[in-house]
Amino acid sequence: MTVVSEPQLPPDQIARLHRRGGELLPLASLTHDGDEPPAEWLEALAALADRLGQSYPFADAQYLGQMLKPPHPVAWAGYAMAMLLNSNNHALDGGPATAYLEQEAVDQIARMLHQEIHLSHLTASGTIANLEALWVARSLHPGKVIVSGAHAHYTHARISEVVGVRHETVPSTDHGTLDLSALEERLQRGGVGTVVATLGSTGLGMVDRIDRIADLCDEYDARIHVDAAYGGFFTLLADGGTPGVAREPFDALARVDSIAIDPHKHGLQPYGCGCIIFRDPTVGHLYRHDSPYTYFTSDDLHPGELSLECSRSGATAAALWATLRAVPLTRDGLGSHLASARTAALALAERIRLLDDWMLVLEPDLDIVCWHPSGTTASGVSAATEVAFAQLAERGWHVAKLVVNATDLGLEADQPAVTVLRSTLMKREHADIVDEFADVLASLNHGV
Ligand SMILES: Cc1ncc(COP(=O)(O)O)c(C=O)c1O
Repeated sequence: MTVVSEPQLPPDQIARLHRRGGELLPLASLTHDGDEPPAEWLEALAALADRLGQSYPFADAQYLGQMLKPPHPVAWAGYAMAMLLNSNNHALDGGPATAYLEQEAVDQIARMLHQEIHLSHLTASGTIANLEALWVARSLHPGKVIVSGAHAHYTHARISEVVGVRHETVPSTDHGTLDLSALEERLQRGGVGTVVATLGSTGLGMVDRIDRIADLCDEYDARIHVDAAYGGFFTLLADGGTPGVAREPFDALARVDSIAIDPHKHGLQPYGCGCIIFRDPTVGHLYRHDSPYTYFTSDDLHPGELSLECSRSGATAAALWATLRAVPLTRDGLGSHLASARTAALALAERIRLLDDWMLVLEPDLDIVCWHPSGTTASGVSAATEVAFAQLAERGWHVAKLVVNATDLGLEADQPAVTVLRSTLMKREHADIVDEFADVLASLNHGV
């Protein structure tokens, strides 16, 4: 039996949370400068700091588990600044300044993704961005099937249900990407309206061959939607430079019908910032609706006339816009953050490959690295993974777990699935801790 420690921030971070609450309160008004806050407000924030203290240390390099990190300081401050107005990017009535900031920010992201002419907007999340893409896909190909790979995010099957379209899963390769032969075989049978490809899978961080899938979609007259929620910003490294990522799938983004990308993952933003991009701006007609309440202040098209969501946070757009101004979408700008992440992943994979007691699941395509204790059976490896996970947590290292097919790892499948360790090396500081972390791994006794 393994016991995992309760989440707890280091004492200095809890103390800082306590201080920040009191420091922020006097700044919370645009109409006047700081009054002395009432005691009960301070008490509420102190109680909040205590509760937040029961978190994993997401800001630390020793947290390398899920896709989590605090936003860039400019995003944080920009968000707080714009929150003094709390504008609403539904209509230009509610958020004139932030609506235009949104247009400028999403245009930069679309261009980074090789989409020069486009229709794009921010969404609450990757899930909502994908929802809009599949809703448009269904409207353009009514009655046809949406297919995604076994490794694609679970959201696609569920969203298909929500928008009322049949969904089928196509097998993935043991490399964790869409199986092109299986896809072609399915396309040949007919009835497929849209193929969902993944640029950076959630589990293993693998990149589908978007270029090859786009060829197949051209041949069989299907749409292609790319879920780049996680991997989209790695386009900044797909230029032949070092460190880099495979070029072809990223170059092919110019050819795809829609792309979901999450600035709240690799775009340094707080949660609540997804983005959907359509290559054909005329899909905007599908969003058309009348509103008796809004759309009065300008004859320009209002954001809400081109988005499924109504109220959307103007502060989200402001934070993103300011971040992109401070950290532009270039290899030297935001790309330098991704380069650190990619460097860390390559270095960790290299170290794990050289350790006797550990096996790398796959060479990383991006910055997610998965590995497991060496062993022969699925049950034995899974049990050893649990031991190692708990031992790492006890030493202050927070990783994640992933369940994969035992046969994909060449293990004796005494049970169909095997649990492995997974790390997302998405913070700049991760590049500095790889050796220390690998030394800790080497010192564990996971019992296989
Ligand atoms: C590839 C992919 N698609 C979609 C999602 C869902 O995005 P969100 O959590 O922003 O709704 C995720 C989240 O991890 C993801 O990795």
